Amino acid sequence: MQHARTENASTVQSIVERWREEEGPLLPILNGIQQALGYVPRESVPVIAEALNLSRAEVYGVVSFYHDYREKPAGRHVLKVCRAEACQSMGGDAVAERLEQLLGIRFHETSADGAVTLEPVYCLGLCACAPSAMLDGEVIGRIDDEKAADIARRARA
Ligand code: FES
Repeated sequence: MQHARTENASTVQSIVERWREEEGPLLPILNGIQQALGYVPRESVPVIAEALNLSRAEVYGVVSFYHDYREKPAGRHVLKVCRAEACQSMGGDAVAERLEQLLGIRFHETSADGAVTLEPVYCLGLCACAPSAMLDGEVIGRIDDEKAADIARRARA
């Protein structure tokens, strides 16, 4: 665990160094960390704040504002379910609830066995095939009960 922490810290440090002198460095730094580690560790906030001469609250405010930044590592699978209007009008709420039930977790949670993280997303550009979701980068449209069960089975694998 300590080893992983030290590794994370040096990854964060090198990403911060890469971007700190650029214009508007905060988002590229957060994107870089999320890409490298799969999440933005809480310990990285003071490092970023100090390097960019911002307050910790300012950095944390940005991390928590954008849904795409995770504060904890994701599961082996990431299921993003569209919660935007077009999907909602086509039964998206029921699909979301069904998937929560089938996976036994709520949005922003990861199953205890680390298999799957469930996240909301606000439009996948697949409105014509609503309700939609994305499992590990694969978009899935027109989700009905049968497709929801299949998605849950794959996500738990
Ligand atoms: S609103 Fe769900 S894909 Fe566009």
